[in-house]
Amino acid sequence: MKNRNVKDPPGSGLQTHIQGALFSTDVESEVPTNDSTSDGIELISFRELVPEINDTGYLTHAIFAYPAKFIPQIVRYAITTYTKEGDWIVDPFSGSGTVGVEAYLCKRNAFLLDLNLLLNHIMPLKIYSGKERLREAELHKLLVSMRESKNQFIPSWSNVAYWYPPETLEVLSHYWGFINSTDDSVYSTIVKSALLKVSKRFSYTEDRTPKLARSKRKLKAIEELLKENWREQLDEMIHNHSLKTLRCLNEFVMYTQQHQSEVVPEVQWHGGVDSSYFAVPRECDALITSPPYLQAQEYIRSTKMELFWLGHTEEEIRELSRLEIPYRKADRIIQTETLDKVKGMLTRDDLQKRLDSYFCHTVNALENSMNQLKPNAAACIFVGNPRIDGIMVELWRILMEYFTERGFVFEKVYEDRIQTRKLFGARKNKNPDGMKSEFLLILRKETTCQTSAQHRESAFGDKESPSRVPRKSPDNDAS
Ligand SMILES: C[S@@+](CC[C@H](N)C(=O)[O-])C[C@H]1O[C@@H](n2cnc3c(N)ncnc32)[C@H](O)[C@@H]1O
Repeated sequence: MKNRNVKDPPGSGLQTHIQGALFSTDVESEVPTNDSTSDGIELISFRELVPEINDTGYLTHAIFAYPAKFIPQIVRYAITTYTKEGDWIVDPFSGSGTVGVEAYLCKRNAFLLDLNLLLNHIMPLKIYSGKERLREAELHKLLVSMRESKNQFIPSWSNVAYWYPPETLEVLSHYWGFINSTDDSVYSTIVKSALLKVSKRFSYTEDRTPKLARSKRKLKAIEELLKENWREQLDEMIHNHSLKTLRCLNEFVMYTQQHQSEVVPEVQWHGGVDSSYFAVPRECDALITSPPYLQAQEYIRSTKMELFWLGHTEEEIRELSRLEIPYRKADRIIQTETLDKVKGMLTRDDLQKRLDSYFCHTVNALENSMNQLKPNAAACIFVGNPRIDGIMVELWRILMEYFTERGFVFEKVYEDRIQTRKLFGARKNKNPDGMKSEFLLILRKETTCQTSAQHRESAFGDKESPSRVPRKSPDNDAS
């Protein structure tokens, strides 16, 4: 491991000069770094630090695809370094629940929140608490019944016919009709996860881009497929995906039976929750999270095909999209030294508003969880250094500046160079190089700091029940 002084942050200074020669990056627009912190940045590779995980999709991690997922090594490192068995970990941006799975495997409890409703569908499979191995014969029986079923389910999606040829839509709606009306069991949930994959594959949207995108290439591919034995291919894909998931769950059962003690960890999840306005109802021993990206990611839009097939309505999805960070109004302006410098360099009004919105709601959500941390607990926040109009935004430094003014102490920041994932590198924008590094910021709650639960207890005599944070959302009155 190497130590580097924060005066020379990654992605700025020397490194940017080299990039500048290749991609003519606007070096003038670099934000000068803050000299006030004397601790170093620790340059590490989480993959190397956690050699016991040599496959990022091990056990149930790869059952669902999700944009900007944590690699489990980062979460494992934070859990083993900053928590102990039996602790409660909170993640206000839990996405596909990587923190929940790792917490469960490491015998910690977890409280997960995310705006995306998909979390509620993902978690029952990713954390399967059954003790018996699942039977392949049972799965086969369900698949046979599904193929013979006459039920039908058409998603409440006005545009659905735009995304499917009539032939595949007809078959998929019969399969979903069967599975949505079957009693909930682990087997039907396994089949649902396979149907989600197949419903994307047999649509006009590109398989590999997260957002819905009807491309000429995919239209042609589907046209060709329909000339072949597409129905057999579709059934085979459902069968193979279902079987693969069942086997992952069996490995999960074997692993937990070997490693778990008497006390089974508790993982609670709440998809469809706006963390910016949600009061975390319990005290926690650590926060481990990765906030949304500053660049257009649009998690709800990226997963809307899945949400429609799972029975969610257009109205529900529209409501959630309006609450997504950073596509909503700020209700307060966050100020820190570094953030003010970035804003001073931005000439575009819309980008200033984007930054205001991003920091307002990201900080609200972090604060709602961090208020519930016990004294001395660690907050582990994983972020990149995105650019906005060519200007680098050091997210970890801005968050560090904000929270060290409010009862937290800066402990360290780890830098992990991205090895295999290409985030935004392919875009034709002012950041042709994409992000090179990601950072794990570690803050510690000061020992004198009260949690908001303790605060409420002393003020009201007893604990308040979970409630929304009493801050008025400006989004509610946006017309
Ligand atoms: C970087 S992703 C988290 C991925 C996660 N760490 C994982 O491993 O799957 C950020 C998440 O923030 C969520 N998000 C965006 N706006 C939100 C809000 N207002 N409240 C709660 N979650 C929100 C997105 O739905 C997305 O899942």
